[in-house]
Amino acid sequence: MKAFVSRAIPPAGLKVLEESTDLDITYNTLDEGFSKSELIARTRDADGLLCLLTDTIDAEVLDQCPNLKVISNMAVGYNNIDVVEATKRGIVVTNTPGVLTEATADFTWALLLAAARRVGEGERLVRSHNWHGWGPLQLLGGAVNGKTLGLIGMGRIGQAVARRAAGFNMDIIYYNRSALEPALENELKLRRVELDELLVTSDYVSLHAPYTNQTHHIINAESLGRMKPTAYLINTSRGPLVDEAALVAALQAGQIAGAGLDVFEKEPELYPGLTELDNVVLAPHLGSATHETRGEMSRLAATNLVAVLRGQRPANPVNPEVLS
Ligand code: GLV
Repeated sequence: MKAFVSRAIPPAGLKVLEESTDLDITYNTLDEGFSKSELIARTRDADGLLCLLTDTIDAEVLDQCPNLKVISNMAVGYNNIDVVEATKRGIVVTNTPGVLTEATADFTWALLLAAARRVGEGERLVRSHNWHGWGPLQLLGGAVNGKTLGLIGMGRIGQAVARRAAGFNMDIIYYNRSALEPALENELKLRRVELDELLVTSDYVSLHAPYTNQTHHIINAESLGRMKPTAYLINTSRGPLVDEAALVAALQAGQIAGAGLDVFEKEPELYPGLTELDNVVLAPHLGSATHETRGEMSRLAATNLVAVLRGQRPANPVNPEVLS
């Protein structure tokens, strides 16, 4: 069985792969993804592919890699893979859920607090040597303690964000396709609401839903128009949940107070005007970027890949119907 690893990954996963001496594995050892044509050329004969969210695995790639039996994505999100097309071809797709929940929830709070308390602006002021000392009117931001947090999406990461909000004495509301178990709602002190109520009442709106046709541009001109002028939008899920053109217009107009973005519609491209805005904190897709978490993601992705190639059931199939 042959496999290809599309980009340099942390050592924990490499160890699993290197110990799999029954498999013939080739690697892109660079910390840079291949172009689509190069990816196809390297994967053409492969039975397995370990890829990253920066690789687009669509029908064109699948057509040209007819031996593929498994695509192991080193990410919890898998919108970079056409799972419907993979399923049609009997290819198992796997992801890395669970291991990045806490790191991503932490980073959501880093962005929320940075946006509310203007950490980026303050840092730029100090770094540019333009800070002339403490001032009673200087860089006043939004309070977090006691405010209302609205979570769109209430899976593992949404719940981990909610757990942290308890320490800030926040009212927490959420919008999700399905309701949590009442016991969990009680434990986390959550209330499920309609999207409109969430937008209208939240001081902080944070996105934790996967990217699908249903969540495409869930935040658009209309939804931004429903938010409070003092509210902040935080996105650590996927860029296209937000209509970036509408967000830039809303931030320019002061229609909302600010935003914290870890993900973008067309990464790594930035929507024109975004970097000129002071009321947005921008991060380069760092949600899961801790040594520990990336190590676990790498290990899990490698383990999923190897399992399928050995005819075993992987721990994290996203299209388990292929296995039955
Ligand atoms: C990161 O964005 C992931 O989906 O793992």
